[in-house]
Amino acid sequence: MKHFLTTTDYTQQELMKIIKAALTMKKSGCKKTLQGKILSMFFFNPSLRTRLSFIVAMDKLGGLAVDLSSGSGNFPFEFEENVIMDQGTIEHIKEAIPVVSRMSDAIAVRASDLVTTSSESVKVPHWNKVKKDTVIRGFTKYAKVPVINMESNVYHPCQGLGDAMTIMEKLGNPKGKKYVLTWAYHPKALPMATVNSQLMSACDLGMEVTVAYPEGWDLDEEIINSAKARAKQAGGSLQFSNSQTDAFKDAQIVCAKSWGAMKYYGAWDQEKKIREKLKHWIIDKTKMNLTNNAYFMHCLPVRRNVEVTDEVLDSPFSIVIDQAENRMWIQMAILDYLIRSS
Ligand code: CP
Repeated sequence: MKHFLTTTDYTQQELMKIIKAALTMKKSGCKKTLQGKILSMFFFNPSLRTRLSFIVAMDKLGGLAVDLSSGSGNFPFEFEENVIMDQGTIEHIKEAIPVVSRMSDAIAVRASDLVTTSSESVKVPHWNKVKKDTVIRGFTKYAKVPVINMESNVYHPCQGLGDAMTIMEKLGNPKGKKYVLTWAYHPKALPMATVNSQLMSACDLGMEVTVAYPEGWDLDEEIINSAKARAKQAGGSLQFSNSQTDAFKDAQIVCAKSWGAMKYYGAWDQEKKIREKLKHWIIDKTKMNLTNNAYFMHCLPVRRNVEVTDEVLDSPFSIVIDQAENRMWIQMAILDYLIRSS
């Protein structure tokens, strides 16, 4: 039995097989390969695309997705081991997840400290603690069926792999083509999970990858080292830049994503003072004109005229809607692969 927590648990060949299966299903239709199969979904955070795309994906494959999200009537879970449960938690995952496993063929979880509806950056501990991904790791510890990561603190692999599918759909063979992953201004600190998975996917495709971000917004070193190794393995490269205008030159894909600076996890007040001076990190037509007619990508939701201008988002080069639709096709391929091989 294999979980789907990060694409880095899979070889580039395995990932390519999943992407190709998704492209084929989109082009030629799919069979009801998961008839009678059940996906149980737990969203501890808000979602539009991920929730809908998993429900529709299971339906298209003949199965059923059950949404057991917090607030939908299930009991508050306890994740700590050896705890006296005399406070707010009612059910330990040690019982809950084996029970769910008996009635499910896969379990999908979204658990991210920073995906919230709050208008302000929410309080989180230091990155080293957040990085432990306690909730989703707790699920994998007790699950008897595959667990799919629908976004944790560290990775959003369905977004990453869906983006890889979109890139292949638009560019054909992506090897050697320039992919720019750029930080964008946002009024609050967002998670790093999406950027980590997008970065990993572009490296797995063997692209010439540049990550552009303001000084101080460095990504996790361990993740960077893994991305570098995978880029090398795929025949591509990975570089970093603190200048959007330098990075955008000759790009064929520009993907925008905001994230909170790792070193300020737990100290957003300090981060905000610097962040507020970075409003010029917006993707506009002048910057896009530096590229080689690049497609514009964003995982959504996006703040118009904050992260990217209307002119870019509404242009024929914007592929954000295709990118969102492809979440469904890639997840169909992931579900089919995981459930039928477990
Ligand atoms: N991109 C993405 O995961 O969207 P949702 O947060 O709406 O699921």
